[in-house]
Amino acid sequence: MRQKFVAGNWKMHGTLKTNEPLLRDIVAGVVGWREVEVAVCVPFPYLTQAQSVLSGTAVAWGAQNLSERAQGAFTGEVSAVMLQDFGCRYVIVGHSERRSIFGESNTLVAEKFAAALASGLQPILCVGETLEQRDAGKTLEVVAAQVEAVSNRVGVAAFSGAVLAYEPVWAIGTGRTATSAQAQEVHVALRTQVARLDGKVADGLRILYGGSVKPGNAAELFSMPDIDGGLIGGASLVAADFLSICAAAAR
Ligand code: PGA
Repeated sequence: MRQKFVAGNWKMHGTLKTNEPLLRDIVAGVVGWREVEVAVCVPFPYLTQAQSVLSGTAVAWGAQNLSERAQGAFTGEVSAVMLQDFGCRYVIVGHSERRSIFGESNTLVAEKFAAALASGLQPILCVGETLEQRDAGKTLEVVAAQVEAVSNRVGVAAFSGAVLAYEPVWAIGTGRTATSAQAQEVHVALRTQVARLDGKVADGLRILYGGSVKPGNAAELFSMPDIDGGLIGGASLVAADFLSICAAAAR
């Protein structure tokens, strides 16, 4: 049985002042839940705050990006080892905003995935198609190529230390969610793709859905057999909404 997993992706939101009650409310809300693992992926400067509030609680934390390089003269970059220093368990890799706004290619994403793993962090690898690609019937082809770039680089066994997130680009921050059937179709395809290389790794692989997950649609999405939780953007900034989504995963 795969334990459900709900991770918040705060993106570039928050202040020391607003994060504090948000983190504390999440901690208070998840006490005693075993059926679901909960994490928040916060902006780099707030990792120290996340570490101090969340240490010893049931809530894990992580970052939203990392450098593919280990160290050196790379102004502005943040390495996997640095994230480890702040107790991160997770790091999001290949989010569509990084791919489209910051030009991250499949190859670079694979390098970042490898760098995370090499330092013992669990990458949350995001894949997803644009609306144009979906309309052209290319969804499965696009996500398969995104996963393949990584499996070719690190080998399929590496996925046993990772999480996959299917995030259709057209559903992110738009209020437009994939239907549970649309999401399930892609999740099954992804799991099958991994299973072709290693059945056991595929069985254990948690595949999250992300893209306008809200308290009102979470339960239905999470009831699908291959949807193992969610990667939550906007709704992760409001404790009550995030907790309600976590509760839906715990059911
Ligand atoms: P959203 O973002 O929940 O605000 O759509 C999800 C994500 O980008 O991870």
